[in-house]
Amino acid sequence: MTPPPTAPANPPPRYGRLGPVYRWLEYGTFGKTLERSRRTFLEELAGCRSVIVFGAGDGRCFAPLLSAAPDALVTSVEVDRQLAAQARDRVRRQGLSDRIRFVDTDARRLEIESASQDAVVTQFFLDCFSAEELARLVPRLRLCLRPEGYWLNTDFDVPTQPALARWRARAWGRTLCLFFGWTANHAPGSLPPIDAILRQHGLRPRREARFSAGLVRTTLYRVSDPADALKGSSTAG
Ligand SMILES: C[S@@+](CC[C@H](N)C(=O)[O-])C[C@H]1O[C@@H](n2cnc3c(N)ncnc32)[C@H](O)[C@@H]1O
Repeated sequence: MTPPPTAPANPPPRYGRLGPVYRWLEYGTFGKTLERSRRTFLEELAGCRSVIVFGAGDGRCFAPLLSAAPDALVTSVEVDRQLAAQARDRVRRQGLSDRIRFVDTDARRLEIESASQDAVVTQFFLDCFSAEELARLVPRLRLCLRPEGYWLNTDFDVPTQPALARWRARAWGRTLCLFFGWTANHAPGSLPPIDAILRQHGLRPRREARFSAGLVRTTLYRVSDPADALKGSSTAG
């Protein structure tokens, strides 16, 4: 186990308020695009036996994940009690409860068990943090990965080109920030450089898919060099 980090400066967002309508808001705004992006590359986790999901929300991710990785046991780390309860309910109805361990806590306070996981899954979670916070959080979370482990991330993105797609993604970013700032007390200000931070900590992109003209990106990263894992360990704290 690594020592717990110092207390986070900002309170976590409160997505639980949106719990009952979150899914319908999503479908109304983006159709099934986000759903497709969440399922992309799950098949690459087929051989994983341990997967940790951060910020799973209402738990829609678990059934597809467990079906793609039939031998996996999943740990779910979710700070919002309302959403965690909704997720527990969902997996109970799906008969999947015995394959998921729920840890209701702030990921920033989690005691990381070193090299305990074959994969980390983050879906629309890393954008909950400012660039500074993410630069502290990623190396800590990364410690839980075994050498050659996977990190599957899906999040909003701002493509560099074409200009129209870039402008559109920025406009969406501002709208979502305003909306979630108002409804979920979540307003990091701007999208943190997620890909750059993951790469800085020894995660190498292996596959990438973009959705809705680059507004959403799913990337499968892998810890390619065991020496990277050691480098990551030394930056924790
Ligand atoms: C935008 S929602 C995404 C939910 C789900 N992954 C999805 O794809 O719909 C962000 C999720 O991360 C959770 N979250 C945010 N900050 C967190 C933290 N510090 N620790 C654990 N969970 C957190 C929120 O409660 C919420 O469930």
